[in-house]
Amino acid sequence: MKKYLVIGNPIEHSLSPKLHNYWIEENNIDAIYEKKEVKSEEIKNIILDFKKKNINGINVTVPFKKDIISYIDVLSPEANATQSVNTIFSDKQGSIVGHNTDIEGFEMNMLNINYNPKGKRYFILGAGGVVSSIIFTLNKLGASEILVSNRTEQKAINLKKLFPNISIVDWGEIPSFDVIINATSLGLEKNDLIDLDFSKIENNKIFYDIIYNPKETNFLKTAKKLGNITENGKLMFVYQASAAFEIWHGVKPRINDEVIKLLD
Ligand code: ATR
Repeated sequence: MKKYLVIGNPIEHSLSPKLHNYWIEENNIDAIYEKKEVKSEEIKNIILDFKKKNINGINVTVPFKKDIISYIDVLSPEANATQSVNTIFSDKQGSIVGHNTDIEGFEMNMLNINYNPKGKRYFILGAGGVVSSIIFTLNKLGASEILVSNRTEQKAINLKKLFPNISIVDWGEIPSFDVIINATSLGLEKNDLIDLDFSKIENNKIFYDIIYNPKETNFLKTAKKLGNITENGKLMFVYQASAAFEIWHGVKPRINDEVIKLLD
């Protein structure tokens, strides 16, 4: 039986095992997908296990998407451009390949919301692990402008080294935008509030929250009340998982209402 693993810290709330095991069963694949909370110093042994084929594929989540790179033999162009790896597999030569399926996840999500993403002005809140994937995708989708604001400005400055076309906005300021993306962890707790006042923004903008659990963060609740269109990150999560599944098993898994309900 093949074994797949998602590693991160914390990992308790990860829904990846539920999703992957559902698709594994649906496709009659002899495999199991588990989650493991790891400390930095344990990553080395996980990679050794992968080399020994005790583990056949790994998903990587917060906070290791960048740190894992030092254990990887070959980075896909997407992983290299974003300096972020969320999916590990072996190529025909037996090299350890690091890829980034968050890009495909976010791209598929953006293409599924009945909105033309091209030529739009995007305002991203946060500069954590997933933001390089968001910026990469928005460039690919033809964004006219990408603005990034982070409480700790240095992290936004680091992102600008990777993507010189972004502009940095002081934390607390709200520039005009077509789409705003919450990529901070504010909202994971039910009572979390982002201390920004959106009441002066014209309505009918798109408010996207990477967070999908809770389903509707206060960020999205407020946006809806103010007359905007809202979307959470559930489809991004499903599509990044589906891209990893296809790489490992050579099968495109089904995405339907039943699959999406699994994550409620
Ligand atoms: P990491 O920064 O380790 O990659 P993350 O969960 O991917 O972790 O990112 C957390 C994001 O939420 C960061 O952008 C963080 O801002 P800082 O870089 O200033 O830490 C942001 N964040 C978390 N708590 C916040 C708060 N109370 N106010 C504003 N931003 C916050």
